[in-house]
Amino acid sequence: MDKLIIQGGNPLQGQIAISGAKNAALPILAATLLAKTPVVIANIPHLHDITTTIELLGQMGVSIVMRDNMCMQVDANTLTQCYAPYELVKTMRASILVLGPLLSRFGEAYVSLPGGCAIGTRPVDLHINGMRAMGADIEIENGYLKARCSGRLKGADLHLDTITVTGTENLIMAAVLADGKTVINNAAREPEIVDLANFLNQLGAKIAGAGTSIITIDGVSELTNNIEYPILSDRIEAGTYLTAATITGGKVTITNISPHLLESVVVKLRQTGAEITCEDDQITLDMTGKRPKAVDIVTAPFPGFPTDMQAQFMALNTIAKGQARIEETIFENRFMHIQELQRMGADIQHLGNTAIVTGVDHLSGACVMATDLRASASLVLAGLVAKEKTTIERIYHIDRGYERIEEKLLLLGADIKRVV
Ligand code: EPZ
Repeated sequence: MDKLIIQGGNPLQGQIAISGAKNAALPILAATLLAKTPVVIANIPHLHDITTTIELLGQMGVSIVMRDNMCMQVDANTLTQCYAPYELVKTMRASILVLGPLLSRFGEAYVSLPGGCAIGTRPVDLHINGMRAMGADIEIENGYLKARCSGRLKGADLHLDTITVTGTENLIMAAVLADGKTVINNAAREPEIVDLANFLNQLGAKIAGAGTSIITIDGVSELTNNIEYPILSDRIEAGTYLTAATITGGKVTITNISPHLLESVVVKLRQTGAEITCEDDQITLDMTGKRPKAVDIVTAPFPGFPTDMQAQFMALNTIAKGQARIEETIFENRFMHIQELQRMGADIQHLGNTAIVTGVDHLSGACVMATDLRASASLVLAGLVAKEKTTIERIYHIDRGYERIEEKLLLLGADIKRVV
């Protein structure tokens, strides 16, 4: 099993380009099932979750032609089965995103229920209830969702009890070919939802309000526009590298990223003492060799501070000046990185969904284990600043969401290598 070995102590210096966003690519690839004509998707990140999605669509009979530099053509007209097997869904929960498009376009879907994962139970009741409100008949049997609708789904006025990112995305995709108008109230506002809506509108859908809490979709009969669509840049990858520059006291420029996608993260990084310059499609962070100041974090749906950056800021606070309070409000078990950081010498007390981090002068290298995607990132950040050597095991977690992480960190002067 692959490991990462990091020799800490190098302040990161230099420039890297940010890749396409995993959490934009996954719903958009699922949305290709809705298109009556082949579509080309560009700026696809080279990640394990993307490979899983390609496998998922491929076993449905969808034609996928890989072009150069992670550009691909997808044609759903060759689909042979509306089936998402447990073997694939268990490795990637976001597979549930095929439910809405399959129901909307083909009137049926047989999708394995995604299990929970390290960070929480991750139910999909809001996805299911929304589609039932649109006329779908969905039964749960043997761990699968057996969904069907006679004729088209019907537009409906939906109210989400909880703000859910993929729930909003699934219901948008269910609504685009429905008969009539759907309104999604209390919708998630993440930029990846805006990217999905932009993609679908270019295909011929009629979606308004994406990025706000009320999204309106006027159903159309089919999506027939031929388009080539570039995926949005990854704001979490961007935030992770900026936090890496901060924790190591370095100076890093990240390109191919619009600063407005991660405003709440930039605000917090400035509070640590980082000097940050934002331009249209790049951000430069200069820590000027200073030790960061501790910053309090409360995670929230966009535009609040993203839960996907919580673990990285936990690592940052372990060596910051002062004490910080971190509150995780989205998932019930997203503190798995704490015990691993404590093994590196971090001073973290936690009770329920709140952690108190007291900065220490330095972390010590150790052999640690990744438990989930963003926890892995926090261990890499800790390794970059720890004295001695840190070995991170089970890094398949990190390969799900960070494209060529060791190559990008090597470009920035880190002493890191992957051991197969
Ligand atoms: C998306 O997950 C992201 N994944 C997650 O990123 C991200 O952490 C999360 O949104 C929150 O921003 C993708 O986009 C592929 P939710 P999602 O539904 O949609 C509850 C990463 O690291 N809920 O917004 O699964 C749920 O339990 C991953 O890239 C229900 O109760 O998250 C949670 O408490 C991790 N019922 C809250 O809503 C439902 O039907 C928010 O979850 C759905 C969700």
